[in-house]
Amino acid sequence: MKGDVKVVLITGGSSGIGGAAARLMCDAGMTVYAASRSGKAPEGYSEGKHMHPVVMDVNDATAVATVVDRIISEQGRLDAVVCNAGNGIAGPVEETSIEEVEAQFRTTFYGVVKTIDACLPIFRKQGHGRVVTVSSVAAVAPLPYQGFYSAVKAGILNLTKALAIETKDFGIQCCSVMPGDVKTGFTAARKVAVKAQDADSPYFLKTLKGLEAMTKDEVNGMKPEVIGRAIVRQLRRRRMKPEVTPTFIYSLLVWAIRRFPQSFVLRIIGKMYS
Ligand SMILES: NC(=O)c1ccc[n+]([C@@H]2O[C@H](COP(=O)([O-])OP(=O)(O)OC[C@H]3O[C@@H](n4cnc5c(N)ncnc54)[C@H](OP(=O)(O)O)[C@@H]3O)[C@@H](O)[C@H]2O)c1
Repeated sequence: MKGDVKVVLITGGSSGIGGAAARLMCDAGMTVYAASRSGKAPEGYSEGKHMHPVVMDVNDATAVATVVDRIISEQGRLDAVVCNAGNGIAGPVEETSIEEVEAQFRTTFYGVVKTIDACLPIFRKQGHGRVVTVSSVAAVAPLPYQGFYSAVKAGILNLTKALAIETKDFGIQCCSVMPGDVKTGFTAARKVAVKAQDADSPYFLKTLKGLEAMTKDEVNGMKPEVIGRAIVRQLRRRRMKPEVTPTFIYSLLVWAIRRFPQSFVLRIIGKMYS
């Protein structure tokens, strides 16, 4: 049936949330192109009829276009793209260099834009297609010492919703998934702004305390399969929701953050992380 999701491209599909989503999509009978810089298959899976691990750096628009062309020539269709690849750079706003800010936006924002750009012409031509982006609860919860990460994820969330409006008449649906804390390689891969690591920095101790608290939350976080299942659920719905926050507790948190006075919200977040 038109609109059924049979062929999916997922970025960051080798491990973590993307790896779990790729496995679950494959198990659900979808043909999955799991893209990453390493090109590794998600754990426990190997190249096969329904699982295609591919080397693709989302920062390289040509590489993304090549993979999309390959999918069309092999499958004759691309039904959905899951823009998941991302990373984190921590540091107080004042002590994060512009190069570090740009690095935060490179993969996690521009990488998403490049991936979406390569898929939209195909989706429009087909008259159907789905865009799923992986944002974060940090999009609505302004995380101190991860302000640029919060900014990127807020950008992704709003971009996805704006895109949903722009592309609706072409038969394209868009959904942003907002995970809370998830136990993945994301925590170990997170970089810290160089200036904030200097013991003379006025933010040194606060950054350390904030990062310790966030790291603890992440290593005790959900399994990536929880988010993978939420992604698959949206891909199987006739109409995707524009925004999804997996688990009741995190959706309640997002609801509360949006409804409570912001001065109160900032006070609570400050007590937790600063
Ligand atoms: N973990 C959390 O608590 C959490 C919470 C909310 C949102 N998120 C978001 O969830 C997404 C996935 O994070 P994760 O926790 O699963 O992280 P992860 O375990 O570090 O996995 C990241 C994945 O992205 C790939 N990747 C990194 N840079 C890439 C690039 N330039 N091009 C293509 N692939 C790239 C990695 O493979 P290679 O290294 O082989 O490229 C890997 O497959 C991110 O957008 C993150 O911001 C995570």
